[in-house]
Amino acid sequence: MPKLNLAVFFGGRSGEHEVSLMSARSVLGALEKDKYQVVQVGITHDGEWFTGEDAIGAFERGDTRGLDAATLLPEPGARGLYARGEGSSLSKIADVDVAVPILHGSFGEDGTIQGLFEMAELAYVGAGVLASAVAMDKGLFKWLMRAHGIPVLEFAIIDSVRLEADMDAALDEAEAVAAYPLFVKPANLGSSVGISKVRSRSDLVEGLLEAVRYDRRILVERGIEAREIEVSVLGNEHPEASVPGEVIPSDEYYSYRAKYIDDRSELHIPAPLDPETTEEARRIAVEAFQAVDGAGMARVDLLLELETEHLYLNELNTIPGFTQISMYPKLWEASGLPYPELMDRLIELAQARKAQKDGWVRTYEGAE
Ligand SMILES: Nc1ncnc2c1ncn2[C@@H]1O[C@H](COP(=O)(O)OP(=O)(O)O)[C@@H](O)[C@H]1O
Ligand SMILES: [Mg+2]
Repeated sequence: MPKLNLAVFFGGRSGEHEVSLMSARSVLGALEKDKYQVVQVGITHDGEWFTGEDAIGAFERGDTRGLDAATLLPEPGARGLYARGEGSSLSKIADVDVAVPILHGSFGEDGTIQGLFEMAELAYVGAGVLASAVAMDKGLFKWLMRAHGIPVLEFAIIDSVRLEADMDAALDEAEAVAAYPLFVKPANLGSSVGISKVRSRSDLVEGLLEAVRYDRRILVERGIEAREIEVSVLGNEHPEASVPGEVIPSDEYYSYRAKYIDDRSELHIPAPLDPETTEEARRIAVEAFQAVDGAGMARVDLLLELETEHLYLNELNTIPGFTQISMYPKLWEASGLPYPELMDRLIELAQARKAQKDGWVRTYEGAE
């Protein structure tokens, strides 16, 4: 069997650049050498692309000298990675059968790079353009879930224009969502950046002004005391759910600090839940995946309200963390799928989705 050519992408322009490097380091270690020929593509904070045998090491050291500038062309015929030489000349340096974007957040998880892969007719791991974009937008995502009858916490979406035009009306609308505490979140960020938990009208003003620094649209949501339950989903047409896991954040909620700065947050795998709640969490995860038209993978995050024991869908991450200790691969391991086999499955799913697309009729084929 000839080896399959993979291009693993990491780094990227979002605030989760460093997390992506950690994820990619693990993925590169888990891909079996006898099956895959891997080319590494690092994307800097500024969006420059570099490749090299140990690009991951260079990115970890923050030193891209010695790497080659790389690019992917949007033409379907190009089929590979190109190096940019002197005078902007291009030469192909690697064939690419499957792209593996291990990029979190903007320009990686939001459908933008997936759009480039689509243009180039490359198979790629994970969700397509639409699912990536919708899952990245907390507002549109909640509307979609609600339309599918999937339980989400009460919310309102407030845009910056409304906020500037009539702050009092915006505050009234936010307060109509539920009694305090409320959560205020920029629609399009991850990693808990720009999020606040507010307990009064003056807090709310501050939270909205903070969130609007990050995005045009802001989600205001009923705040609850909850356990944080996560489920990994894998598949295309017939997605499967892993056993659920639970995060015990080291902060009052799963803040940026609790996620990345102090590593005292605990993961419990499987989550200690009764069988009914376990099944419900898995069912909601699969329904949410199908509702966004997911592909390949997603980690679905739920909140289990302490007071009522109701489960609410919080968010769906189309490119979840992938370190050895990340929830997504750990949940699969606990469900009987070891990390290297998980990577094999994701690559097969990428190829299956591509083959399916190749089979579609794209032209008008004459009169009925
Ligand atoms: N409505 C809510 N009620 C209670 N806690 C919440 C609520 N929304 C978010 N949180 C807490 O904030 C964290 C981050 O919010 P989340 O919506 O998951 O944003 P991000 O995309 O940044 O992870 C969650 O993991 C949870 O701890
Ligand atoms: Mg989250």
